[in-house]
Amino acid sequence: MEAQNLHDLRELARRRLPRGVFEYIDRGVEDELALRENREAFGRVKLSPHALRDVAGRTCATTLFGTPLAMPVAVAPTGSAGLVWYQGELELARAAAAAGVPFTLATAAMTSMETIASEVKGRLWFQLNMFVDRSISHAMVARAERLGFEALVLTADCPVTPNREYNARNGFALPFRVTPRSLVDMSLHPRWMASVLLRYVLGTGLPKYENYPPELRTTVTRFATAKAAGRCEDLSWDDVRTLRRLWPRALIIKGILRPEDARRAVELGADAVVVSNHGGRTVDSTEAPVAVLPRIVDAVGGRATVLMDSGVRRGSDVIKALALGARAVLVGRPTLFGTALAGQRGAAQALGLLHAEIEREMGLMGLREVSDITPDLLAQAPMAGTRADGGG
Ligand SMILES: Cc1cc2nc3c(=O)[nH]c(=O)nc-3n(C[C@H](O)[C@H](O)[C@H](O)COP(=O)(O)O)c2cc1C
Repeated sequence: MEAQNLHDLRELARRRLPRGVFEYIDRGVEDELALRENREAFGRVKLSPHALRDVAGRTCATTLFGTPLAMPVAVAPTGSAGLVWYQGELELARAAAAAGVPFTLATAAMTSMETIASEVKGRLWFQLNMFVDRSISHAMVARAERLGFEALVLTADCPVTPNREYNARNGFALPFRVTPRSLVDMSLHPRWMASVLLRYVLGTGLPKYENYPPELRTTVTRFATAKAAGRCEDLSWDDVRTLRRLWPRALIIKGILRPEDARRAVELGADAVVVSNHGGRTVDSTEAPVAVLPRIVDAVGGRATVLMDSGVRRGSDVIKALALGARAVLVGRPTLFGTALAGQRGAAQALGLLHAEIEREMGLMGLREVSDITPDLLAQAPMAGTRADGGG
């Protein structure tokens, strides 16, 4: 099967990965209402194309934080590429660099920020999980600064472990334990066993959380790691204040769904917010980020950059997000699925498919430049259930 689109990449990854790994990446939380809503909300946004406009020589290139971008897309932090491909983060980061888009390395990644910074010559962002012991996270911030990461992304929407029942059912909770079920699952996927697990075992050893300080840098099967990753339940706006003092470059707050939170982030000096419900992986009854977007854009009022993620699967989704006021989108699962199929080549395919779709859709919509993507492309006032007047 040749992948024609990002949905096909997902299906191919489903066949290749052990079920536990695939579901860990693919699924949402609880009854998966938010996961479905993320896609359905994009479907409810309708576009109004211009006819008879010269669209020859159009381009998806744009800028973000004053620096060029090949298309209005960045790779979201997931920390899971190393589970789907041997040293998957490095492969994914290289693909992002070649595609001219930023790669966000997650705190929970299995490749260190030192390795990524030395091996990848592209735009790099670092996503920060706050540890209960703040000094651990602040030391990571200092490392990211020293290594030249361009932006720091604070995850704001996951202070408590979300309820992902399928992981427990699949024997795929962290710390990872081999159960009879996971053993059968893995042995039914020999290609993954040979190309991922075996390469780790024979090469660098089982994946570790390489960004953690040495004393916590255990493999994914060890309890100390899970404990160290223990959610920082007292994460608050005070942490944003501190990070703003510590971090001199772009500060991005990820996981904003309320206009007043966006306003507060801006007041505390954030350069950008990511309107996100974590890809439908935290609170199951949120509105879709694409539906909330106009209200947040209004609240921010041009004082900071608004990005969005959760459910972007088509070039037209990117056009819709930008027409609703986002500067760019992040994608999470699609590039993981690409990485799962062929490492860097597969991740490049995912980003290439998205690029081709954005460019094609821009042509069909009568657009030559990303700056031509304006609210008047929306066929109606922003979706039912949203308020374009932007109030809090
Ligand atoms: C497997 C997986 C792991 C993730 N890990 C993190 C993480 O460590 N930190 C974070 O801020 N977001 C994390 N996310 C959320 C993504 O950054 C992003 O918000 C989401 O995937 C976007 O939705 P999409 O997958 O529909 O594109 C994760 C998402 C997935 C699918």
